[in-house]
Amino acid sequence: MITPVLLCGGSGTRLWPLSRKSYPKQFVPLVGETTLFQASAERLSGPGFAAPLVLTNSDFRFIVTEQLAAAGIDPGAILIEPEGRNTAPAVLAAALWLERSDPEGLMLVAPSDHVVPDAAAFRAAVATGAEAAEAGQLVTFGIKPTHAETGYGYLELAEDPGAFEARPLALKRFVEKPDATRAAEMVAAGTYLWNAGIFLFSVKAILAAFRAHAPDLVAPVQAAVEQGWPDLGFLRLDPAAWSGAGDISIDYAVMEKADNLSVVPFAAGWSDLGGWDAVWREGGPDAKGVVTSGAATAIDCTDTLLRSESERLEVVGIGLENVIAVAMNDAVLVASMDRAQDVKKAVEALKAKG
Ligand code: GDD
Ligand code: MG
Repeated sequence: MITPVLLCGGSGTRLWPLSRKSYPKQFVPLVGETTLFQASAERLSGPGFAAPLVLTNSDFRFIVTEQLAAAGIDPGAILIEPEGRNTAPAVLAAALWLERSDPEGLMLVAPSDHVVPDAAAFRAAVATGAEAAEAGQLVTFGIKPTHAETGYGYLELAEDPGAFEARPLALKRFVEKPDATRAAEMVAAGTYLWNAGIFLFSVKAILAAFRAHAPDLVAPVQAAVEQGWPDLGFLRLDPAAWSGAGDISIDYAVMEKADNLSVVPFAAGWSDLGGWDAVWREGGPDAKGVVTSGAATAIDCTDTLLRSESERLEVVGIGLENVIAVAMNDAVLVASMDRAQDVKKAVEALKAKG
């Protein structure tokens, strides 16, 4: 059995003002009718999958239960992190939790804020990786890179990907978030794939990897799980123990150090919706590159996203090029499309203003 482990503790500041600390992007219908979190849970349900294990924080716990119920999915368990410690402690807590009920099982760690339009192709890729995971490999999913992105991890293939066929390939190395020069070199080399941020491994293999590569995390996270307590159907991890765990992602803590890595190339669509430019791309631009949503009208615009999330505000753009405009009831973002990654600076600037 494969247990989906859904991570939804992030705050998604690059999609401000739609994504808020109190209601981040994974819980918002950004592309299509369901939220990204619901789509992630649905993608990993059905034959072969156990009920999902969700890791989130206290603020989002009822959003999680409401959205799962609305999608008709029963959560296996919802673990509440006392505070965000990034993905390594969260994945370790999930593995230690599953060790109790399904020590021989596999876990599929998935972010809850990605767009993967072809769910069947994705489940097929998971099935392709299952045997390698059973054999003790840490299986990643690789996307053919299109540009020198610095926000992703890169997977160096130990063998020629051939016709990009869907079979597990051995990996030489995992490089998390390189600088721009390094990223450009890796894209040019043609022997690297982007890490999709989705992982498949056995409970046993990932616990062994944490013990080998991130031993300092094990005692505090284990204590946080053991001393955790049930609360209205949630399991609250023990705050005192949890505060002893370092703040680090699984990519740095384990993947960059492990030598038992495989990758299943994934050729169907994937986007991590890492900014408004990605939302624009996934939103299906028309012949002039325009995407509108809600009460928004574009006149003679090109390569522009106009979006109103407000029932009070009508957004009209005239003669715009390369612009992002997003209106909420209480905030409006207007930015140049090529500065989409800088939107997180808006959040920082507003925080500094108090
Ligand atoms: N529960 C929980 N707790 N979830 C978290 C936490 C936490 O403390 N921090 C982040 N998450 C969730 C986020 O909500 C997201 O769904 C997922 O974990 C990944 O975290 P990100 O912060 O979005 O990671 P990233 O985008 O910088 O990098 C990862 O994803 C890239 C692809 O999108 C890495 O795996 C990269 O290598 C990869 O290329
Ligand atoms: Mg991300």
